[in-house]
Order: sequence, then structure tokens, then C-alpha cells
Amino acid sequence: MDSKKQESFLEILVNSSVDAFIATDMHGLITLFSKGAEKTFGSYAEEVIGTKIAKYYVNGKEEAKKIMKTLYEKGSMQNYETEMIVENNRIVTMNLSISLLKDSKGALIGTLGVGKDFTEFKRIERQLQQSEKLVTVGELAAGIAHEIGTPLNVILGTAEYLMMETDDSDPKNEDLKIIISQAEHITKLIQQLLNFSRYNKPELKTIDINSLIKDVLRLTDHQITKEEIKILTDLQPDIPPIIGDDNQLQQVFINIIVNAIHAMPQGGTLTTSTRLNCPKHSAINNNRNVEIHISDTGCGIPHQNIQKIFDPFFTTKDVDKGTGLGLTVSHRIIEDHGGTIDVVSHVDEGTCFSVRLPIQIHEDTDVK
Ligand SMILES: Nc1ncnc2c1ncn2[C@@H]1O[C@H](COP(=O)(O)OP(=O)(O)OP(=O)(O)O)[C@@H](O)[C@H]1O
Ligand SMILES: [Mg+2]
Repeated sequence: MDSKKQESFLEILVNSSVDAFIATDMHGLITLFSKGAEKTFGSYAEEVIGTKIAKYYVNGKEEAKKIMKTLYEKGSMQNYETEMIVENNRIVTMNLSISLLKDSKGALIGTLGVGKDFTEFKRIERQLQQSEKLVTVGELAAGIAHEIGTPLNVILGTAEYLMMETDDSDPKNEDLKIIISQAEHITKLIQQLLNFSRYNKPELKTIDINSLIKDVLRLTDHQITKEEIKILTDLQPDIPPIIGDDNQLQQVFINIIVNAIHAMPQGGTLTTSTRLNCPKHSAINNNRNVEIHISDTGCGIPHQNIQKIFDPFFTTKDVDKGTGLGLTVSHRIIEDHGGTIDVVSHVDEGTCFSVRLPIQIHEDTDVK
């Protein structure tokens, strides 16, 4: 094969792969963007060649610098997982293998990265871990409720009886009140645990997502105005209906909004938006879905906590403010609806939760 033929053969090879092949020069400017990359990122090569690769990393320049440092030290990186931004600002987990590119004389001319979208794989992995945790919590909850419930009732009953026996002026009265209120707090916690472990199958209905969001904002309105929080809404009209359980979905958005309110004790802005998403190139799923974004300008979530927020009982709030089950339950509800829930957060800047729900096409109405 002469060198011209070989070159075009190499081009065919690179462009036939479903993986994303991206080359950059030594300044981080993109010099090659394969067909697989176009599909994965939802952008055309001509739009991105000459632009900076760093803008595709969620952590921007910092990430690009970190990768270059490792490449200089080790020459290559394999199975490196990082978060990248693709079309419609969707965040995906990318599995990257990157190496330094050298010309025939051995001089460094850039980098070559091969990326695979691992989002779906990661989601399934997380879901499995989550279900395992939930089974344990469920079993634990049922056991605890039984074992603790009875003696707790005895404590409550006895304390209430003693309270009736003592005078209002008796200083012991205050101590008894503490015993009763703490015991009631445990009873409430047990009840929440039981609700959580009891699995409720979604009751499916046709739902207009914009009306549901408006209902949720109405329900939380009192709390929002009390905290001097400004509300911005941007609901795309004409979104086709989704199929789901309206009570369960309400619960999800109420929890996300209440969390946002808690994150802005000094006030701030709560932005809610909906839109129809029709992926151009999505490699995973060509179905249309509706995206709901809820963002706040609150305290943000530190990086080390991001992985934990969906875990049962993970909370940073005081005992009387949170049990750490809100997002665990929300996660389960969204997964039961065939959707996804993701979060992007920056400390002291704010947090954005994105929920995606599929728009199902009824098989019986669309067979052609
Ligand atoms: N918008 C947000 N801004 C900052 N931190 C958040 C936000 N949303 C969630 N978090 C963090 O995630 C944790 C878990 O949230 P989750 O809703 O599961 O539990 P919770 O709000 O603490 O308790 P509850 O069971 O009452 O909902 C919170 O304690 C908080 O640290
Ligand atoms: Mg919560």
C-alpha cells in the first residue's frame, strides 16, 4: 500500500469505530474529531476542530492540565473516567484512553484520546449498588420498627401517665416533656423508615409535566417566599405527556425544591425549567425525553459528598430537619419511571438537579 492509500485507509478505520477518536495539538486545540466522536458528543467535526478540548471537561482547564501532567509523567493513560459535557449540556461519564502523539522524529505534536460513553454502564452499576443498599435498609427497617416500637410505646405511655400525676408547677414536668418529645421523634423516624421500606408500585396516569411542576411550586410557595427566595420558571410549552405516578413524581420535585430552599438560608434564586429533548446523535437511546432542571444559588455540595447524596440516611442537616431519605426515595421513583436523576454542584455557587423522564410512545397507537 502506498502512503496515500494507507492514510485514507487509516482514516476509514478511525471513522468506522463507534468510539470517539479525538486528537489535539500541544495547546489543547482539537485537530481530529472522528465520526464516533460526532455521535458521542452530538457536534460536527467542522464545528469543533480548532476549539479547545478543555471546554468539554466538566472540570474544564483544571482537568485538561491534570491529564497533560499524567501524560508527561507516564506517556499514556488507560481507562481514565471523567465527566464530560455533550450536546444539550448533558453530562456523561467518559472512559478515556489517552496517549501522547509524536511525529516520525519523536517530537511531541499533541495527544490522541479514545473515549467511550460509560454513562449507561455507570448508571446500571449504581442502580445495582443502590438496590442492594435498599434491600438491607428495608429489612433493617422492618426489624427495627418491631423491636423498638413496643418498648417505645411503653416509655411514652409511662411518661404521659407520670405527667398526669405531677403538678404543672413541678420542675419534673419539664423533664417529662423532654422524654415525651424525644420518644415521639423516634416514633416518627420509625414511621418514615417503614414507609420507605414498603414498596409502592407506581400508579400510572398521563401527566402534563408543566402542570405537575406548577402544582409543586404552589405547594412549596409558602416556604419559598418566607426564605426570600426568587423563583424563575422557564417551562417549554407543548411538551407531550409522560406516563407516571403523579403523587410519586410530586414527592420527588418537592424534595428537590425543599433541599434547594434549605441550601439558601440567606435567600437566593430557584430556577425551574422543562424542555423536550430529542437527542440528535445519542448513542444510547434515541427516544425523546423530557428534562426538568431545578437549580439553586445555594451552598452547593462538596465534591466528596456528591457520590453519597443518594445513599440512605446521608444527610448534613440537623436531626429534626432531615433524615437523608429524600433523595434515596427520589432516585428510586425516577428509576421506576425509566428515567434518570443527575446533579451538578459547585460549592458556594449552587446546585442543579436534572431529571429526565422518557416520553413513551404507545405501541398500539404507533404501529406502522
Ligand atoms: N440543593 C442542594 N444544595 C446543597 N446540598 C444539597 C442539595 N440537595 C441535597 N443536598 C445534600 O444532600 C443531602 C441528602 O439530601 P436528601 O434529600 O436525601 O436528605 P435530607 O434533605 O438531608 O433529608 P430528608 O430525608 O428530609 O430529605 C442533604 O442533607 C444535603 O447535604
Ligand atoms: Mg431532602
